[in-house]
Formats: sequence, C-alpha cells, structure tokens
Amino acid sequence: MTRQPLLRAENLVRDFRTGPRTIFRAVKGVSFDVARRETLGIVGESGSGKSTTARMAAKLIEPTEGLLEFDGVDVTYKAGKALRDFRGGVQVVFQDPYSSLNPRHTVEQVISAPLLYQGRKVLGGRRRVVKESMERVGLNPDHSGRYPAQFSGGQAQRIGIARALVVEPQLVICDEAVSALDVSVQAQVLDLLRDLQRDLNLSYIFIAHDLAVVRQIAHKVAVMKSGEIVEQGSREAIFDAPRHEYTQSLLAAVPQVDPSWEAARQAG
Ligand SMILES: Nc1ncnc2c1ncn2[C@@H]1O[C@H](COP(=O)(O)OP(=O)(O)O)[C@@H](O)[C@H]1O
Ligand SMILES: [Mg+2]
Repeated sequence: MTRQPLLRAENLVRDFRTGPRTIFRAVKGVSFDVARRETLGIVGESGSGKSTTARMAAKLIEPTEGLLEFDGVDVTYKAGKALRDFRGGVQVVFQDPYSSLNPRHTVEQVISAPLLYQGRKVLGGRRRVVKESMERVGLNPDHSGRYPAQFSGGQAQRIGIARALVVEPQLVICDEAVSALDVSVQAQVLDLLRDLQRDLNLSYIFIAHDLAVVRQIAHKVAVMKSGEIVEQGSREAIFDAPRHEYTQSLLAAVPQVDPSWEAARQAG
C-alpha cells in the first residue's frame, strides 16, 4: 500500500520560556509516522518530552518548529474550523482519569462534551450516543447520570476512553492512560484498547514510561531521551534487538518476564 500515514510529524521542536531571558527546549526535533490501524508506542523516562510531543501531535500546543500532517494535509498552524475538524479526528486520553474528568459533570455530560464542541447533531440524540459509547467500553449505560468520583480508577479511565470515542476519531493519543492503574486493571484496559482498535480501525499513539506496557500494545516504538527520539522501529526490533545504548539500558532495567507466563499468554 502506498497510502500516506495517518499522522506524520517532521522535526517537531518545542521551546518553553522558563524565565525572562531563558528558554528550555523540551523537544528537539522529533519525526515519526503513525500508520492507519497501528499503534506507535513512545517510551522514555520522565521528563524526556513524551507529553510535550503528544500535546503537539494533538494540537493542544503549537510546535516552535516542524510540520504536522494529518491524512495528507498540513495542519501545523491550522485554527478555527480546520482545527475543530482535526479534533474530530484526533482525541486524547490522559493519565489521571479523575482530574481529567470534570467532577461536577455527570458521565453523560463528560462523554458528550466533544460532541458539543464539534457542534454535532447526532442521529437518535446525544443520550443514545453516550449510552452506546458507554456500552462499547464496558460500562453500564444505566450509570450515565452518575459522577466520575463514583467510579473506580479503571472505570473512570473507561469514561475517558468513551469520551474520546464519541466523535469517532481515527487517532487516539493515550498519554500514560493506564499508568495510574493496578496491573490487573491495566491489562483489562489494554485488552479493551486492542479490541477497539480492531473494531473501529483506530490508530494510537500510546505513551508510557513503562516498557512492559508498551510492549503489549505497540506495533512500532519510538524511544525518547532528553527531547529526542534516539531509536525507533518495529516492536520486535526495539525489544529483541535494540541498537541504541539507552534503549538497552531501559530494557535491562525492566524485570524479566517469567517465560512460562509468556508462553501461556501466547498460547491463549
Ligand atoms: N509548560 C512548560 N513549561 C516549562 N517546562 C515544561 C513545560 N512542560 C514541560 N516542560 C519540561 O519539558 C520537559 C519534558 O516534559 P514532558 O514532555 O512532560 O516529559 P514526559 O512526558 O516525558 O515526562 C521536562 O523537563 C518538563 O519539565
Ligand atoms: Mg508525561
């Protein structure tokens, strides 16, 4: 297939002003592609620039330099209607489900917020779409009148996913979306994300400082260090034959997976 990638980032740079005469370059020129129906994992230690990269890719902040293309269109400096259209195609799920969901809004209000922003009229009404979206992520649609605090961490993250999906995006950016969850809940949410990818033809940018998590979901992996991508490639290339010293040291720090557990996972 010769179709262009869904998202293409070329040499994205981001500076932050840190004082009257000082600027900090948090991201120093990163380039990557996200293919359709694929997951690009981004790993790296805290402070390496993962979230800043995610925020540029989602157009929550503007790059200082560089190019962002979505579906073959240059969206780097788009605003107004073009930006709203972009937001219909790209949604974000953040780390802390409670702080990223308005506590005074019911789940129905939370999930339908992107629809309102898009100004979309939906067939059968907003309530029906919200209930469908809740069912899709494994939440009881009868609970749409409850508040985020009434849900467990895993359920609250499902609310965040339902909110992202309600506008039927092509790309979902998950920034440490499962990092705050217990391992068993994490596994359930990762399963959900994989099912959604298959059923809805989604692409993901999946960011985590935890390599073991990225390994479970990513097709391609980019490794970030100090604002740069030091290595990127297929999951196999990165995890089985890392070339960069930094990737090797990250992998060496991960506790080894029990081989019998790995065999059981692959068997079923
Ligand atoms: N708004 C900001 N102002 C100043 N520095 C920032 C800002 N946002 C992020 N940074 C800095 O940029 C670097 C990268 O941060 P971030 O992208 O959040 O990394 P990560 O998500 O990998 O932990 C860090 O040193 C952080 O302190
Ligand atoms: Mg971060």
